[in-house]
Amino acid sequence: MASTSSSPTGGTREPIDAVRVIANRSSGKQGYAIAAEAAARGAEVVLVSTVELPPPAGVEVVAVETAEQVHAAVSAHSAADVVVMAAAVADFRPKQSAPGKLKKQDGPPEIVLEPTPDILAELGAAKRPGQVLVGFAAETEDLVANAASKLATKRLDLIVANDVSAPGVGFGHDTNAVVLLRPAGEPVTVALRDKRAIAAAVLDVVVEIRSAPGGPDN
Ligand code: CTP
Repeated sequence: MASTSSSPTGGTREPIDAVRVIANRSSGKQGYAIAAEAAARGAEVVLVSTVELPPPAGVEVVAVETAEQVHAAVSAHSAADVVVMAAAVADFRPKQSAPGKLKKQDGPPEIVLEPTPDILAELGAAKRPGQVLVGFAAETEDLVANAASKLATKRLDLIVANDVSAPGVGFGHDTNAVVLLRPAGEPVTVALRDKRAIAAAVLDVVVEIRSAPGGPDN
């Protein structure tokens, strides 16, 4: 796989004050596995990460924390041949964060939220010919229907759907089970296995898309 790849991973942390954040349960393990597998296949990989796992061999890691920082790092590498967006990006962030620590004696804070940019949708809207965009869909119900809708609205070439409420699947686990959806063709189910094996299954499809006559659908 002689290509450049950008691979954002982990859950974002959006500051409420100097010590508190709005976070989510993503561990970043699936994104690390994808970065490791892509590098092992010869790709030049930039891993945009909110978590501090040991960097995979041969992978450049860009450390980030917030949705805005993921946005900036991904934008800086938006020319990558393949973008695999495994990050669990906050959809909303506090409109303001207090510079110091909010004090209990002041009572429950009123936290006003504002939307973050949808990074993948932005990449999809600006997708250049030949570029492959891969998204993840973390769902707890209507897995395939919800993922298919994200695949279409974000103009992706592939979406990796996982039911994060199923045993051993998704956030925090070393294993995952996914359904791979493309704009055409039947969904492909990849049963529960190690996240590195899931990464291999995802990248096999990326290779297939890139080697299709005429290249990826654009
Ligand atoms: N994503 C993104 N920017 C955001 C939110 C999500 O780029 N602000 C990306 C994720 O990295 C993932 C895909 O969009 O690859 C789908 O994310 P997901 O959280 O499953 O869905 P949302 O679009 O946020 O919709 P919802 O939260 O309603 O399920």
